[in-house]
Amino acid sequence: MKHIIATIPGDGIGPEVMNATTDILQALADKTGLKLKFTQLPAGDAYKEKTGVALPQETVDAVKAADACLFAAVGNTAKEVILPLRQTLNLYANMRPAKTYQGVDALKQNVDIMIVRENTECLYKMVGYRERDWGINMRIITREASDRIAHHAFHYAEKNHRTKVTAVHKANVLDYTDNVFLEATRAAAEEHPSIRYEEHIVDACAMKLVLAPETYQVIVTTNMFGDILSDLAAGLVGGLGLAPSANIGTDKAIFEPVHGSAPDIAGKGVANPLATTLSAAMMLEWLREEEAAQRLEDAVTTVLRERKVRTPDLGGNNTTREVAEAVKNRL
Ligand code: NAD
Ligand code: IPM
Ligand code: MN
Repeated sequence: MKHIIATIPGDGIGPEVMNATTDILQALADKTGLKLKFTQLPAGDAYKEKTGVALPQETVDAVKAADACLFAAVGNTAKEVILPLRQTLNLYANMRPAKTYQGVDALKQNVDIMIVRENTECLYKMVGYRERDWGINMRIITREASDRIAHHAFHYAEKNHRTKVTAVHKANVLDYTDNVFLEATRAAAEEHPSIRYEEHIVDACAMKLVLAPETYQVIVTTNMFGDILSDLAAGLVGGLGLAPSANIGTDKAIFEPVHGSAPDIAGKGVANPLATTLSAAMMLEWLREEEAAQRLEDAVTTVLRERKVRTPDLGGNNTTREVAEAVKNRL
């Protein structure tokens, strides 16, 4: 079956990591008979500069019409681009794995965590009010979205042979909202008695993630805590250059690295493309191209294990292109 992949390269290092990844995907397709058709869609800071809008309706429509979307990164317009895409397509589950790769000198070994981040509400609803000297952002948590994400986390755990789910919250202070969330995670836990269930308060969780990340398996949490903890978790296992993610809805999905447009290294050709490449592997798995997904992930892990070709974020001195070539050679 042919898959139409909508790509959004965006800004900064976005086009660099996107080109590297579509190149790798094309090589994978040539080798395996996998059929992919890429379309490239505009969005982001540069597009807004030119046209006045960051996310044109045609891009939204093309993402809806495609089989899957691969998104690299945009800059300051992220809240006008990726947030509306996640919310209008109802991509309620943001899956953010953090795991140890052999050959990467990471802060921690033996990490294998899936952060299941609620992706449609919380502070990200962007409901608020601003006066000159004060402002409000409303944190909205509903039972419906909490139920949905809680069930998604337990189903993920069951399917992937994980034995524990940790709900991360701040109900000790944010009692109006996080008790709604916890009532949902507790109800889901009761429906899945074979999975152990625990609750951690987010600040303590942040410390425990640093000291003993191997004790976590699946974390389910609200939108902003998931945002922050997923960068933290990425930092434990090699950094944002290796952190992929999937925004999953009922029949649509967008796959993107956890990182942003990295203006500090943009244009230098040294961005690590592997977070985007690993996101593409998640995309292939979601498209039920499991064999191709595995082959792609294996090629990435082989390149990492060999320690020969790597970008500066991983302690090497290779370019984005050289890493892409190395992955292609290992497919
Ligand atoms: P960032 O993720 O862009 O960068 C944080 C740090 O990680 C920087 O030092 C950067 O050089 C490094 N880094 C990130 N990706 C890397 C890669 N692939 N290879 C090597 N190093 C990498 O976060 P930031 O600097 O806080 O944000 C920059 C811009 O990106 C902001 O405008 C923000 O709004 C935007 N942003 C967009 C998205 C998105 O499009 N989904 C996500 C996060 C941030
Ligand atoms: C991420 C990013 C986005 C988020 C921002 C840039 C809108 O940080 O994907 O993690 O907070 O979700
Ligand atoms: Mn983030």
